[in-house]
Amino acid sequence: MSSPEQPRVPSTGAVLAREPGWWRSAVVYQIYPRSFADSNGDGIGDIPGITAKVDYLASLGVDVVWLSPVYASPQDDNGYDISDYEDIDPTFGSLADLDALIAALHARGMKLVMDLVVNHTSDEHAWFQESRDPASPKRDWYWWRAAREGSEPGAEWAEPTNWASFFSGSAWQLDERSGEYYLHLFSRKQPDLNWENPEVRQAVYAMMNRWVDRGVDGFRMDVINLISKQPGLADGEAAPGRRFAPAFERFANGPRLEEFLQEMNAAVGLDARHLLTVGEMPGSTIELARRVTDPANAELNMVFTFEHVGLDAQPGGTKWDLAPLHLPVLKQNLASWQEGLAGVGWNSLYWDNHDQPRAVSRFGDDSAEFRVVSAKTLATVQHLHQGTPYVYQGEELGMTNTQFVDISSYRDIESVNYHAEAMSLGLEAETVMRSLAARSRDNARTPVQWDDTSHAGFTQGIPWLPVNPNYVYVNAAAAVADEDSTFHHLRRLIALRHELPVVVEGRFALLLPDHEQLWAFTRTLGEQVLLVVANCSSLPATVPAGALPDVTGARLLLSTHPGAASAELAPWESRVHLVG
Ligand code: NOJ
Repeated sequence: MSSPEQPRVPSTGAVLAREPGWWRSAVVYQIYPRSFADSNGDGIGDIPGITAKVDYLASLGVDVVWLSPVYASPQDDNGYDISDYEDIDPTFGSLADLDALIAALHARGMKLVMDLVVNHTSDEHAWFQESRDPASPKRDWYWWRAAREGSEPGAEWAEPTNWASFFSGSAWQLDERSGEYYLHLFSRKQPDLNWENPEVRQAVYAMMNRWVDRGVDGFRMDVINLISKQPGLADGEAAPGRRFAPAFERFANGPRLEEFLQEMNAAVGLDARHLLTVGEMPGSTIELARRVTDPANAELNMVFTFEHVGLDAQPGGTKWDLAPLHLPVLKQNLASWQEGLAGVGWNSLYWDNHDQPRAVSRFGDDSAEFRVVSAKTLATVQHLHQGTPYVYQGEELGMTNTQFVDISSYRDIESVNYHAEAMSLGLEAETVMRSLAARSRDNARTPVQWDDTSHAGFTQGIPWLPVNPNYVYVNAAAAVADEDSTFHHLRRLIALRHELPVVVEGRFALLLPDHEQLWAFTRTLGEQVLLVVANCSSLPATVPAGALPDVTGARLLLSTHPGAASAELAPWESRVHLVG
């Protein structure tokens, strides 16, 4: 045990200059504001709560905070349904509170990246309200369509296409006022903006410019590859017995995506002002990601891809159709992205975010015996691939999945709608609850566990989502006080990235690609080789003789089991050596 580290104090007391490519050596910390820290006792996290924790973030060493949406919103999808891009939702505070947060971060040399949700707005946004009038000049700002030919509006099968919404049911909603349908790929309170209309694009760029002028340092762009739909809006292929089709290929990665991104980059000065840009791009191929993140194309710095978080679902199924994960498949997948973008584009590295279950429960082992060590080893593997790592709030504490046993505990619209739809289709209740326990987004959304006082120190009120009962031992106060915790392991990993160019720039090579337990790779820069070997299993593992570079005389930079050096690795043991 040792005393907590002192917060990092920037030498200049001013925001670090935005150098070209600064984000390559940065680590980003994601805050889901609703669940981070509540300052006013209403049970919901808020901006002043975040500002009170900036020294904690500085002590971890992260460079950037990505803030999930805090804009005005009816909160149908916890803020991903924005009714006013120019204002802050009173649940989270005010514009003055945001300015104070930006100043507090900048004073410590950290930056703020805002979430940009412009594939859709809330149905309560003034643009959509206007657009509901068929005579309005904003009618074309959204996707309005008549009922399918030969069908009466509102009749069964009358939707313009058979597309399923990501949140269950049809992606089209009839608006009685005009008798036409509008497209909503997410909830019916999240109508899709029509990016084909140049006025929409100009309005979005103007709004982005105002946020940059206010001091934000970049944008995380929500489902940005859905802004260009495939022309023609054709039906997808529904599974037998299903009415709606998850018609991803019909509305994602449309032909104008890169044109729109280039136009946005120029109009906002994304590259010229050295902002951090990361686009969420489900269904992106390596080829597309390489083009989008190639600096020569002036689109985005990096993208969030999804292949690695889809490997534990049944092929052709949805995220709810659980399947076992095989380590060789996972590490080979990440290696293909490393190789695919090498020397041209740039990867983002993540296990966790507000839409994914907790990494230690999913990829690690959250039992009392292995929770801490498996969280550390997962972090080692993630942070030492090439790319910009993202830490999701609580990941530094090894926070685990929820332990909900009843549907009434869930709050997430996706989970609640899935449950209702699955039950109506006659799926077995136990199977549905098992899928929710493993995959619900609420797993990531339980309040951050700050200490062992009531409600984990998250709020003085009643938390909007129950705190995980393991807060009594999984909490920030305990982790910061314990030199051996996941928190300090992550802090060391972040420090390594800041110290060693090989962590940022080193060429990646996967070793032992078919090994069922070991994840081993090198990163090479000039004469220096970083060797990472990790046992990603809850059983001991043996390194096959001669399979890894010789580490005699090499510096051991980081290890989960200090002192261990044999060819046998304990469960979840990992070691990082620097050769040369
Ligand atoms: C992706 C976001 O990460 C998710 O939380 C949200 O529900 C959808 N996009 C819709 O905005």
